[in-house]
Amino acid sequence: MPYTVPKLTDYSPAALEHAAAECLRACSEEASAVPNDAELKAFRDRWMARKSGILTQINDLWLKGAPREAKRDAGIRMNELKARIQELVENARVTVGDLAKDSAGRVDISMPGTRRPIGAEHPVLRASREMCAVFQRMGYSIAEGPVVETDYYNFEALNFPPNHPARDTQDTLFIAGQDSKPQRERLLLRTHTSPVQIRTMEKLCPPIRIVIPGVVHRNDPPDASHSPMFHQIEGLAVDTNITFGDLKGTLDHAMKEFFGSNVKTSFRPSFFPFTEPSAELYISCFICGGSGRRGSDPCRPCKQTGWIEALGCGMVDPNVFEFVKDNGYDPKKVSGFAFGMGADRIAMLKYGVDDLQLFFHGDVRFLEQWA
Ligand code: PHE
Repeated sequence: MPYTVPKLTDYSPAALEHAAAECLRACSEEASAVPNDAELKAFRDRWMARKSGILTQINDLWLKGAPREAKRDAGIRMNELKARIQELVENARVTVGDLAKDSAGRVDISMPGTRRPIGAEHPVLRASREMCAVFQRMGYSIAEGPVVETDYYNFEALNFPPNHPARDTQDTLFIAGQDSKPQRERLLLRTHTSPVQIRTMEKLCPPIRIVIPGVVHRNDPPDASHSPMFHQIEGLAVDTNITFGDLKGTLDHAMKEFFGSNVKTSFRPSFFPFTEPSAELYISCFICGGSGRRGSDPCRPCKQTGWIEALGCGMVDPNVFEFVKDNGYDPKKVSGFAFGMGADRIAMLKYGVDDLQLFFHGDVRFLEQWA
């Protein structure tokens, strides 16, 4: 039965509400089942025609017929209803499935189908996956570990003793209500992916070569280069006779694979409790070619230095091996190197994104660029 406008006898708010809802429901039902262009026009006329369209009937029957005390209320409600109906009518389209039919009802299979956009890999995950793939091609496997970690794995076994000042640099977010536990069992959000070094060495005997992608947290307010949640890629290689030369060669190769073969690397002394010696790896700025300038402008990504900090690294500290000694990691027999980089950071560099926050806003227009 097509919808007809009923006469109103009851003008109570509840009755008005009910009548308006019925009318809207009918309109939206009709709007969603318009089979072709001719019907679309008929549908519009039926609801909107000046002379005897349903909107006009509503005006005549409901508003003009309203008793004086109900006029104001009914007027407000009718205006709302009219606006909604107008919207429905204006937005009504011929139903998609029938678009492909010509006037004789034959299907035109050359018409474009319904587009169902598929998702795209997030740029940070893509950069992370590509960087891991570089190492996988060198024989590394992927390892993972928990985001909620114990103090032991995040700090103690990585040679940050309790109360050591190096812990302060990690801006740790602690899980509440852990005070009754011994310190090493207290839970926190891991501040780096390095705890997975220990977890993996507990499970696998040497030699090992692993890359560890994952989410980490630090108590940093968000800005263009910081976020309380970000991503890292860790690496660890342990065997007999691994040297700093292996570290340099491996990372130099990885940077060239990832950023381009023209990239040069530079190692500068640094400090991490779990590596000795430690270094920061800089890569020559692949945006300005190391000159620090882009034409007459200063190069921003490298702050005009021609070099960009890419990661932290170093030779595994023998104190770290002491914690997994029983699984074949005798510091007198094995040696290794480790490195850790920000996945968000290398994604920003590779894709030329200048604000870290863009990765976390979820704006489809931004993310579509990687589709
Ligand atoms: N975990 C360190 C950090 O987050 C990076 C690092 C990893 C340094 C491995 C050396 C070796 O800052």
